[in-house]
Amino acid sequence: MKTLSQYLLEFERDNPEHKGLRLAIEDIAKACARISDLVGRGALVGIHGDAGETNVQGESQQQLDILSNQIMLDMLAWSGNWAGLASEEMENIYHIPARYPKGKYLCAFDPLDGSANIDINMPIGTIFSVLPYDRSDAPHNRDFLRPGSEQIAAGYALYGACTMLVLTLGHGVQRFTFDRSIGEFFLTKENIRIPDSASFSINLSNYRFWEKPMQQYIDLCLAGDQDELAKNYNMRWMGCMIADSHKALEKGGVFMYPADNRDPAKPAKLRLLYEVSPMSYLFEQAGGRATTGTENILDIIPTELHQRVPAILGSKAEVDYIEALHQAALKKTD
Ligand code: AHG
Ligand code: MN
Ligand code: MN
Repeated sequence: MKTLSQYLLEFERDNPEHKGLRLAIEDIAKACARISDLVGRGALVGIHGDAGETNVQGESQQQLDILSNQIMLDMLAWSGNWAGLASEEMENIYHIPARYPKGKYLCAFDPLDGSANIDINMPIGTIFSVLPYDRSDAPHNRDFLRPGSEQIAAGYALYGACTMLVLTLGHGVQRFTFDRSIGEFFLTKENIRIPDSASFSINLSNYRFWEKPMQQYIDLCLAGDQDELAKNYNMRWMGCMIADSHKALEKGGVFMYPADNRDPAKPAKLRLLYEVSPMSYLFEQAGGRATTGTENILDIIPTELHQRVPAILGSKAEVDYIEALHQAALKKTD
């Protein structure tokens, strides 16, 4: 089986304009391997539970949120591959220390996605987005506010029964599996194409807070073959965007965290820059689609680092259908 290093080297030979991307992705893969090791030790080394602090999102931080964030900074700052870093766990961007050379990429990441799953040994992950940066002066927050269509790489690590790295460099989606005994990622699935499947992932407990078209779609899924969708649906909700999205990417279906009116200050939950945008790039590269319900995720120009957006990601046919329900609802209000 091909290792991640071999895949990246071959990619670089075939795409010389992306020279340098290989080493940048290797930095991230090494960081994810270290996070995977920590995740695997958990309570044995006292890193479960609250850190007793809250992050810029106003969410209480788990110890592993902070440790994973530190590992990402430690593994990317010194390598000379990066010009700046942004994280769910940091209010502003991280500037590469003066003692290190600067690179030509920006990375935005969620170091530990699914934090509520940490203490109960359920799936968690790390998600990252890579943007090009061609200036020699230091970046500002605003340099990260680019539409997802400008990403040159995106991916995630999924810390489950095994650790997987799912990656796109703009040439399809590849899945790698970590071999702990030798510390290498091996290519275990090439060119993932998202199949059609009657399966949806959503937190149903928020039903009453959703917009009408989302309620309408879920009603139709629950009606199964008794209504216009004419097939019975299955449901999953693992409480980790990476895990629920990974299931949809590999087995088909749709992952949704729609707009909801629980908190007017937070019309959506997931963050665009380092959760929804990288995942949308992966879904589109796998032949799927990614929308807020009314606009393509990859077209959205972020207004601030931690902006939240509704997310509907899945197989093309299913997402087209859901978007049509949203468009019809818009027409009614016109
Ligand atoms: P994070 O742990 O990085 O804050 O992300 C958690 C997100 C996402 O991973 C998941 O899909 C969603 O929160 C779950 O939200 P609910 O607990 O509201 O279902
Ligand atoms: Mn997250
Ligand atoms: Mn997180």
